[in-house]
Amino acid sequence: MSAITEFIKQLPKAELHIHIEGSLEPELMFQLSKKNKIDIPFKSVDDVQAAYQFHNLQDFLNIYYAGASVLITEQDFYDLTWHYLKKCHEDNVLHTEIFYDPQTHTHRGIHFDVAINGIHHALSDAKKILGISSNLIMCFLRHLDEADAFKTLQQAEGHLDKIIAVGLDSSEIGHPPAKFAAVFKKARDMGLLTVAHAGEEGSPAYIWQALDILKVSRIDHGVRAIEDEALMTRLINEQIPLTICPLSNVKLHVFDALAEHNYQKMLNRGIITTINSDDPAYFGGYLNQNYIDIATALNLTKKELVISAKNSFNASFISPQQKKHYCDRVDSSII
Ligand code: ADE
Ligand code: ZN
Repeated sequence: MSAITEFIKQLPKAELHIHIEGSLEPELMFQLSKKNKIDIPFKSVDDVQAAYQFHNLQDFLNIYYAGASVLITEQDFYDLTWHYLKKCHEDNVLHTEIFYDPQTHTHRGIHFDVAINGIHHALSDAKKILGISSNLIMCFLRHLDEADAFKTLQQAEGHLDKIIAVGLDSSEIGHPPAKFAAVFKKARDMGLLTVAHAGEEGSPAYIWQALDILKVSRIDHGVRAIEDEALMTRLINEQIPLTICPLSNVKLHVFDALAEHNYQKMLNRGIITTINSDDPAYFGGYLNQNYIDIATALNLTKKELVISAKNSFNASFISPQQKKHYCDRVDSSII
């Protein structure tokens, strides 16, 4: 094992950008498709893996929604989440903030309570059994209309103790943050924090809207911010974190190669950058793999990796005391 791989493996980390539906491995997809008698457009695990060649975000989303259709029962959501949490344990991820997309499931006739209860149950077990802390973020699908997001927020009302924030994901271009101004305002009034995918494929204008209109605490992806100097200054001055997903960005052709990724440039400009896996079952790896591959491609220093790990805790929605506790653990882990 290379020295940098060893360094990354023992570094305590938080993950802030992971779609739980994106952690559905082909093996579990097949198992659930058989159990629940749901047809999927693949004949074998190899067939699934061969289909994972994406030209852009939409290409990926089409396969991702088809895959998610095998999730039917609370136990299915529990098993999906538990599998991801075991990966966290292996990767020394001490805290995770998980996205899930209720509309992906309610639109297939799955009751709102099924997904959230299954996911929440696994997260509580992870705290007790693996010592992993977590928060859950409910995302609205931006290709649907705002009325549907309002309906989803209403369905969440009996579950507010399980959700820390609302987010915005799915097809970015043509669906600007401003489309969801009113539902995000309602969510904030209900005491929820806000985040949004912006500047993955979409222009920096979408990042401005996420900040000004949705009043987000952090930006998911945000890599296109580098095209707008005034926006960079704002992100730096207001210390707005970016949850960056290196392997995802290459798989979806946001960058041609990891060596061309702007992660290190962003970090060295003073942006609060974090490393994340996005949809690990589809993009080639969980959190450590993202750290290892971006560190190798950009020659990240140990110091830059430590900053990234501390940023991941400091950008999370835990208390200042918990942030300090985890950052102290980062310091004492350094070899
Ligand atoms: N849903 C799952 N992964 C996503 C991504 N990378 N961008 C937007 N929506 C998503
Ligand atoms: Zn994402």
